[in-house]
Amino acid sequence: MIILGIETSCDETGLALYDSEKGIIGHVLNSQFKLHSKYGGVVPELASRDHTIKIIPLLDELLSKFNFDIKDIHLVAFTNGPGLMGPLLTGSAFAKTIAWTLGVRSIEINHLEAHIFSAMMTEPKLKPPFISLLVSGGHTFLSVIEEYDEYKIIGKTLDDSAGEVFDKIARQLGLGYPGGPEISKSATETNTTPFTFPRPMINSGDYNFSFSGLKTHVKNIIDKTKLTDKTVSQISHDFENAILDVLISKTLRAAKEFNIKNIVIVGGVSANKKLRSRFQNEKESASNVFFPDMQFSTDNGAMIAYLGWIKSKSNKTENLNINPQPSLNIN
Ligand code: KG4
Ligand code: ZN
Repeated sequence: MIILGIETSCDETGLALYDSEKGIIGHVLNSQFKLHSKYGGVVPELASRDHTIKIIPLLDELLSKFNFDIKDIHLVAFTNGPGLMGPLLTGSAFAKTIAWTLGVRSIEINHLEAHIFSAMMTEPKLKPPFISLLVSGGHTFLSVIEEYDEYKIIGKTLDDSAGEVFDKIARQLGLGYPGGPEISKSATETNTTPFTFPRPMINSGDYNFSFSGLKTHVKNIIDKTKLTDKTVSQISHDFENAILDVLISKTLRAAKEFNIKNIVIVGGVSANKKLRSRFQNEKESASNVFFPDMQFSTDNGAMIAYLGWIKSKSNKTENLNINPQPSLNIN
């Protein structure tokens, strides 16, 4: 079965073809970061318009680049939430039009669920149960994934997501958008730092997170500091470590307490190289830590196509709606 995946929840237009027997055929992506960078965050109306302009040329590019005939698509999977209303509407209208024209089924996909299973696309050995840390621009939560449709959220951020705080502090430091990769790059420019920021809730005993206090604390320090290349990288260095310390400590503790061997880190922040290497170095020797292929950490159409394939095996009936704020348990 060949699945076309369509992702338009925020500022990335992602399209992909997935072959249930051979894996990913190919994917194409248009990231709008340049469009939004001068605002330091995503402007919803600009995002919707750009998805509308780019989506048809991107489908043409996908088909021609991978030499694929549109008539060979058997299923169209699209993100129906969570995300921004306008971008979601663009993707769902496009997906349903293609499905209707081809006479095939369309299937709505929860974006968070697609991130959670994204590591499995390139790790065929990986199966539930596993501990999942989802760290993106919109969400930060820890869950126990018992089965494909059986989740238990054990902790989540009480305020800002980790990605959002990376983006906001990068803006304060005069770095670009998205902030995660910028902070990370700046942090590698020094090995020492005089700054020591709080590690919020690291010893709270539960699995919840809170990053908004850290954001305010770092902002106050930035306001009192003369920003030079050196001080920006020193601030970035401890700020990145503060977030990573909390994420790593809580995730490894969850794996130990729930006695689950496999740990899967997904979402945009999982592209962070230091997070990847620290997880591998700090995990218990009996644990395995998995990440999506680097290109599938941030938003993409391949994870939507892949979950479309998994979901197509159930008899769930589709509805024609989008839902900008669905819960994780959409079934
Ligand atoms: O999953 P994603 O592409 O979109 C959402 O679903 O939100 O995540 C985007 C977030 C942004 O906040 C971005 O700053 C962060 O992922 N991010 C990173 C890195 N690459 C992207 N954060 C830290 N380090 C990175 N290398
Ligand atoms: Zn995402």
